[in-house]
Parts: sequence; C-alpha cells; structure tokens
Amino acid sequence: MKKKTRIAIIGYGNVGENVYKFINHELKNKAEVVAVVDINPGNLNKLKGKKNIKLCDMETAVKECDLVLESATGDCAYDLLKLALKYRRDILILSVGGLIRDFDLLDKIIASGLNVYVPSGAICGLDGIGALSEGDLSKIVITTSKPPKGLMGAEYLKTKKICLDNLTAPVTVFHGNVFDAIKFFPKNINVAATLLLATYVSSCNNVLTSHKKDLLEKKVNVRIDADPSIKRNVHKIEIFAKEAKVKIEVENVPSKGNPKTSTLTILSVQYLLRRMFACFKVGT
Ligand SMILES: NC(=O)c1ccc[n+]([C@@H]2O[C@H](COP(=O)([O-])OP(=O)(O)OC[C@H]3O[C@@H](n4cnc5c(N)ncnc54)[C@H](O)[C@@H]3O)[C@@H](O)[C@H]2O)c1
Repeated sequence: MKKKTRIAIIGYGNVGENVYKFINHELKNKAEVVAVVDINPGNLNKLKGKKNIKLCDMETAVKECDLVLESATGDCAYDLLKLALKYRRDILILSVGGLIRDFDLLDKIIASGLNVYVPSGAICGLDGIGALSEGDLSKIVITTSKPPKGLMGAEYLKTKKICLDNLTAPVTVFHGNVFDAIKFFPKNINVAATLLLATYVSSCNNVLTSHKKDLLEKKVNVRIDADPSIKRNVHKIEIFAKEAKVKIEVENVPSKGNPKTSTLTILSVQYLLRRMFACFKVGT
C-alpha cells in the first residue's frame, strides 16, 4: 500500500479545523494530519489527546510532514515559504497575499521543483484566467464590495481617516494595484493575489526580467467598496484578453466560523485536496 501523505496545518482556526475534519473523513486512506500549529492555545485544546498529532512550532511541523497547509496569516505564509525551501516541502497557501511579497523567493521555490498549491478561495473562474494567460491577457479588474463590518479593523482605514460607521451609501475605500491592495488590506483581499498568480503560472518558466514587477503591477487592478446595503461579500471580476472578454460575479455566503471568510473558500480547499489525491480531474 502507498504511504499516506503527511500533512501539517498552520493555523487551526475556521479553515484549519474544517480542513482537518475533511482530511480525516474524506481522505483518510491517502493522507493524515501529523502536526498542527496555532498561536491560540484555546484552538489547540480541541486536539488534545490525539496521540498521532504533534502540537508544535512551525519549523518542527514543517520537518514532520510532506505537505504544509497554511491557513493563518499572510506573515505566516511568507515565513513558511522560507521554511518550505529549506526543508523541501510542498505547500498549500490560503493567505495568498503572503505569496506575492517576494517573487524572487517564489521563483526559487518553483525552480526547485516543489509544488505550490493555491486554492481558488472566494472566487471562481481561475481555469479560464489561466488558459487566457497562455494567450494575450492584458488586464484583470476586480471590484470587491463588502459590508462595512467586513472591512473594519484594517489599518489603512485608520491611516486615511476613513470612517465606515453609519454609512448610508456605498463608498470606495481603495483603488489601486494588487500589491498595494494586499499591503493595506492583508486580511480582506487575498483573491486579488490569487488572480495575479493565476496569470503567473504561464510565465513562471520564463527567464526572469527586472521589469517583471512593473508588468505584474499593471496586471490586476483592484477596487474595494464598503456597501451598507449588502450582507455578503461580492466579487466582480473582468478579464481583458485578445482571445476573450470574461465577466465573473461571485456573491459569497459567510462561513459559520469566521464571517470574514466565505463558505466557498473552505470548499475550495477541500476540492483542491480532493483533486490532488484523485485520478479523475475535470477542468485545469
Ligand atoms: N484565499 C482566499 O480567497 C481566502 C479567503 C478567505 C480567507 N483567506 C485567508 O485564510 C486564512 C484563514 O482564514 P480563517 O477564516 O481560518 O481565519 P481564522 O482567524 O478563523 O483562523 C486563523 C488561525 O490562525 C491562527 N494564527 C494566527 N497567527 C498565527 C501564527 N503566527 N502562527 C500560527 N497560527 C496563527 C489564529 O490563532 C487562528 O486560529 C486567513 O489568512 C484569511 O485571510 C483566504
């Protein structure tokens, strides 16, 4: 019998716990969770008594496993890239903003033959974006509308003195490139980084150029609106390519464990894991 894939989970919150249960039920013949990391001891208490799971620090967890699944923060995702390279581990990243901080590091990981998995998260249509990137895709525009509550706590709002209390009409809080969007809203706009990376797959085998960041900066344009009339996060995505023009709209139901994260995000991780271990694949 083939050996089970050993998985470490970094961040045992809403996504981490759901994915742990999914692996245990649906993938139990092919994979097992061997290590879990979380800075919140209360979350880890749920796993006390499970003899086969190490509750440990991130470096120990990485050493223990074949695949590391990050579901914590962008900072964690970034630190994990360095550890994955050091110990040669495959990674699956949820806090996708952390992946686009340092393209030289990402390129080193890709060049070293390690697998980097990025779930579609809160959006759909990455197969088409990837396919169009093989052709002539010039630009992606994403407009994300959130209930004001979904944006509160973002440092950028304080810096810019933007107050979202008592809004009566939608207001645009940010408009700019994907790197600034991730810098200013690290917890709210991972999907923009995912869009960028979907276009990056087709170019990552090419010789790297110093113009790369400039080109990437122009690729994904982001607008974030606070809209008091909505209860769900809405992502409207327009893709401009020579071969097709595509429009995607996703209206997300918040997940029970964390209203800032959509249920679709959790399902997208499950689907990606299922595909990784399946012989039957539809789409990309
Ligand atoms: N890719 C996407 O489309 C998408 C969509 C939604 C959420 N996300 C991202 O997925 C991640 C997980 O979402 P969630 O709903 O589970 O959030 P959550 O807040 O419920 O869980 C995050 C967990 O990570 C833990 N954590 C924080 N810092 C840590 C550290 N340094 N080391 C170890 N653990 C740490 C927290 O204690 C918490 O238990 C978030 O970063 C979120 O921004 C991505």
